[in-house]
Amino acid sequence: MYIIKSTDSDPLGGLEFSAKERKSLRTKAKALGPRGEEGELISGECPIDIAHRITFVGVGDEKDITHSRMREALNRVMRQATKNREYQIALGVPVKVHGLTAAESRLFALREASISDYTFDTFKSKKNEFEKIDGLHILPLVKETEDELEERLVKVRLLRASQVLARNLGNRPANDLNPETFAQAAKEMSEEAKGLRVTILGVKELQKEKMGGILGVSQGSVQEPRMIIIEHRPKKPKKSVVLVGKGVTFDSGGISIKPAAGMGAMKADMVGAATVMGIMRAVADLDLPIKVVGLIPAVENMPSGSAIKPGDILTTSSGKTVEVDNTDAEGRLILADALHYSARFNPDIVIDFASLTGACVVALGHEAAGMMGNDKDLMDELQKLGEQVGERVWPMPLYEEYLSYLKSEWADIKNAGSRWGGAVTAGTFLKQWVPDKVSWAHLDIAGVGYNEKEHNGLPKGASGFGVVLGATFLENLLK
Ligand code: BES
Ligand code: MN
Ligand code: ZN
Repeated sequence: MYIIKSTDSDPLGGLEFSAKERKSLRTKAKALGPRGEEGELISGECPIDIAHRITFVGVGDEKDITHSRMREALNRVMRQATKNREYQIALGVPVKVHGLTAAESRLFALREASISDYTFDTFKSKKNEFEKIDGLHILPLVKETEDELEERLVKVRLLRASQVLARNLGNRPANDLNPETFAQAAKEMSEEAKGLRVTILGVKELQKEKMGGILGVSQGSVQEPRMIIIEHRPKKPKKSVVLVGKGVTFDSGGISIKPAAGMGAMKADMVGAATVMGIMRAVADLDLPIKVVGLIPAVENMPSGSAIKPGDILTTSSGKTVEVDNTDAEGRLILADALHYSARFNPDIVIDFASLTGACVVALGHEAAGMMGNDKDLMDELQKLGEQVGERVWPMPLYEEYLSYLKSEWADIKNAGSRWGGAVTAGTFLKQWVPDKVSWAHLDIAGVGYNEKEHNGLPKGASGFGVVLGATFLENLLK
């Protein structure tokens, strides 16, 4: 049994035990003397019959337990459990994440505990032992029946599966995950998750739709582009939402090639698309009565004799022309076609997820996604929810003046401005393709979708950022 404790909280806090159990646990806690300091792990024999061992896990000062610190504490729990080969553990969380209600906090802890065993070992001969943990048993909390607990657990497991799907996609190398195999992954998902319809547009169809952005970016690669359309269409839907995800399965930069250092991380330039896959899976599993369509333009951005060149002019499906100022600003070119395509689903809301700019990482680091859009209410809601679920988004402006940064001498617009305002000029570019009268938010997840090393209790590699935020947002739309 593991109990999360802060420096000032009672370790048994709101946990539900019988008077007798409580008494022996108190005596034990006194003998072991956990202080709850961050990083602390104190174990002993468990005095009650629920488990063999009891471990107190410290999170530090109660006033400022952040999502990150809670994640880290839960990682310590899981790591120790694996080391000790404890394949069934009970977890008690009497402390709260700062700013959250007790219920929100418990849900967060549950979710994080359930996914803290994640590793990506598809390509390792020696597989991860965590897989053997077959049960996380959660201690019943005050005023919660077994049924309520079970209901929460069902949802946690379902979201976990969606997050794992997104992380696995993000971590797959580009020689394994390309536009075609991405499309296959979408089809496989639709076979597993009931009620999803997947349609794939290949080169011919993309040509028919005149999607010059997608075709342009992919023309330097031997990998053909795809547009992946995933539809969840319940009877009598209450709303219509389109989710768009940047699916660049490898971004070398193209002719405007990137420096060698760190280029390998550009296998994850499809984390936006991965997030959309994860959300679609959750939407299907939850069977939400909303029409939700996922649109994933999938391409590989490579330099070659057939690649687009700076100075080239592309005509996108909306008819708008773009001067390619920098072939490394490829994400916005493919998103332009996808955003334009979203109109045919008559959406009330469009949200795009994209690892779009290094500038966004310069601005916010790895602590929040940059958020832009045309509807303050929508953005406020996403920001509030992000703080709640531990996937933060922070607003950035789309001032009209930024459009002048993208003025082209030869075409309607160019795809890159100067160094300044890189994240907001990218957002401004996208805005030109957003259908009229649609509430739109753009989430630049370049800094949060993929971690070069372990960070904030998240593993190295893809984080699955946005899956829980997106799924929770859609669920709340019904309220
Ligand atoms: N995929 C990159 C953005 C990125 C950077 C994602 C770091 C994750 C981590 C994107 O396609 C890109 O190269 N953007 C350029 C745009 C510029 C050329 C206008 C950038 O940010 O430098
Ligand atoms: Mn790029
Ligand atoms: Zn990119």
